[in-house]
Amino acid sequence: MTAGLGPGGTRFPGAEVCPGPVVSHRPLSHRVVSRRAVSHRPRRPQRSPRAASVRHTRGVTTDSARWQRYWDEHAGDYDRQMTAWDRRLFGDSRTWAVSRARGDVLEVAVGTGLNLPLYPEGTRLTGIDISSGMLDRARDRAAQLGRDVTLRHAGAERLPSPDASFDTVVCTFGLCAIPDHDAALGEMARVLRPGGRLILVDHVAGSSRVVRLLQRLLETVTVRQAGEHFLRRPFELLAGHGFDVVERERFKAGLVERLVATAGPVTSP
Ligand SMILES: C[S@@+](CC[C@H](N)C(=O)[O-])C[C@H]1O[C@@H](n2cnc3c(N)ncnc32)[C@H](O)[C@@H]1O
Repeated sequence: MTAGLGPGGTRFPGAEVCPGPVVSHRPLSHRVVSRRAVSHRPRRPQRSPRAASVRHTRGVTTDSARWQRYWDEHAGDYDRQMTAWDRRLFGDSRTWAVSRARGDVLEVAVGTGLNLPLYPEGTRLTGIDISSGMLDRARDRAAQLGRDVTLRHAGAERLPSPDASFDTVVCTFGLCAIPDHDAALGEMARVLRPGGRLILVDHVAGSSRVVRLLQRLLETVTVRQAGEHFLRRPFELLAGHGFDVVERERFKAGLVERLVATAGPVTSP
């Protein structure tokens, strides 16, 4: 599962846009140049691109550039690997998840768009992902299906959408890979309309201690190499983000969990 599943990072849309000095359109003699342009303060030393992509929040380290690269490199083989796991482990989970979507739908960590063919008629779909390689494949798939989908390059930990703008948020096999999955759930809560649905499917910590011990061993390699987590339980975080779980299924020794939760009212900080 690790080679094709899991990791992530963040590069946020617009982050590379750097506004220049503000110059008014009055005649030249009256032109006002913003203070920024004439400042003689010494410039801060430029951070290296790697340093700029690394963020530390609440004990979680994200290295957006690294995971973007990882997923770009694995995009070509993703569908082959993932469909094998779908057959072996996840069963009908994609249909289960996507058939529950309604209205304006945001798919977080949309990947290559394996869910796209399954969305019910009448849903208006937006997908975000940090990997351009994965998004390119999703774009091709949408074009082949003749589906109108808005695909955006964005990080799940800072969604580029206003509060309360979606009826449904779907995330399949994304939370195991998103570095700060708790922040991502907070963002999903923020962009959902009150009463909107959150639909999650992922592999999670198994029900037995022996399985969890094996998963812990596996994580010693996969978290560092592929950003892939095996011991997460998004279910346990949902109440803290104001969600009510209305459907829950767990199978294959508790390794796979599928959830539908409804969003509470939006609370601004
Ligand atoms: C295992 S794949 C799942 C793809 C898709 N959801 C599916 O069901 O096949 C994980 C995806 O998460 C994306 N990802 C990882 N970290 C992310 C982040 N911080 N924000 C958005 N997408 C992220 C990766 O680029 C990759 O496409």
